[in-house]
Amino acid sequence: MKLFVKTRYRKYPIYFVANSHINFKKILIKNNINTKKLMVVHDKNIPKNIINKFKHTLKEGENIFLALKINEKIKNLDTIKKLLNILGKNNFNRNDTMICIGGGIAGDICAFAASIYKRGIKFVNIPTTLLSQVDSSIGGKTGINNFSGKNMIGTFCQPNVVITDITFLKSLPKREMICGYAEILKHALISDKKFFIFLKNNFKNILNLSPNITKKAIFKSCKIKKSIVEKDEREVNLRKTLNYGHTFAHAFESTLGYTNKLNHGEAVLLGILAASKFSNKEGFLPKSELELIKSHIKELKYNNLKKYFNKKSIKRISNFMAKDKKNYSKNINLILLKKISKPLLNNVYPKIKIEKFLNTLINK
Ligand SMILES: NC(=O)c1ccc[n+]([C@@H]2O[C@H](COP(=O)([O-])OP(=O)(O)OC[C@H]3O[C@@H](n4cnc5c(N)ncnc54)[C@H](O)[C@@H]3O)[C@@H](O)[C@H]2O)c1
Repeated sequence: MKLFVKTRYRKYPIYFVANSHINFKKILIKNNINTKKLMVVHDKNIPKNIINKFKHTLKEGENIFLALKINEKIKNLDTIKKLLNILGKNNFNRNDTMICIGGGIAGDICAFAASIYKRGIKFVNIPTTLLSQVDSSIGGKTGINNFSGKNMIGTFCQPNVVITDITFLKSLPKREMICGYAEILKHALISDKKFFIFLKNNFKNILNLSPNITKKAIFKSCKIKKSIVEKDEREVNLRKTLNYGHTFAHAFESTLGYTNKLNHGEAVLLGILAASKFSNKEGFLPKSELELIKSHIKELKYNNLKKYFNKKSIKRISNFMAKDKKNYSKNINLILLKKISKPLLNNVYPKIKIEKFLNTLINK
């Protein structure tokens, strides 16, 4: 199975294959990638036997393999410098390729480095988490964090090829499956109520990797993201809807200092819940639909902000929300829902109003 993402400057394929180490070299060659000059960066947590299979397939030539110990804190300029130095020392040029085998963190880091080295070398993404397969590997957002928040430094640069292989998910911890599920849920909420109902009825099968249902959810989610990215690659309007729940989520993560206590996808679930409640409070999302969303997030067991935050956290959360990239003033710009599948763009609120709302979530 294959999808093509067509953006202004690049049209690229997403291959959906199992056991990708078997045919990925063929895929690279078909897409004009020189398989003898590659920098392959991979996540250390991927089982060694799988990485060894890739190493074996790519043993000819001057290929370099680098294992990264992944956490949100390494998504920074030091890691980028390290990658750029390796590319430089090994004389990579614009015809050569960086490959990332890893989740969203490795993908964002590698794609950013590949996009700025010599103003851009080729980039192939092999996403290995559910989140990266359904979301971050598509659409060309690259980036790292800095002191003022998440993904503050980055580029838009589409990959040359994406290879999505459900086999990787077998070793993925359950907690990480839920994180990927959060982004699938977001895609359903902003664009397809039928898909939302499908998810509500099938989420346990997806989390347990029941092959056909999981593949269906991944494919559908990629199709939704592809269609949004194709219409608005640079996030001028429509693409902002992919941030549903994320203004809250990024601020939650930043407030906790990107600890393991709350990772990105978990923050997204809490963020979706907060954005849905706020949408209802503002008179948009009907109560019946809010209840559907609330009950689903409760089933996933990520419905309790109080577990992570207290009254003292509110100012820090709102400060981070005020620094969000969608804002053009001191006010906070939120994506809300009019109803499931109908997102609303550019809802701007003063910080104080958001703080009062957060207070009702955290202090109730
Ligand atoms: N660029 C985009 O459009 C975009 C979109 C959404 C999220 N993101 C970014 O993605 C990041 C989150 O990505 P993520 O959820 O994939 O997290 P991640 O990259 O941290 O991976 C989650 C965990 O799973 C481990 N892991 C990865 N693959 C594995 C495998 N096959 N088996 C066992 N363990 C494995 C990792 O080592 C890590 O511990 C965030 O930094 C977020 O900002 C980017």
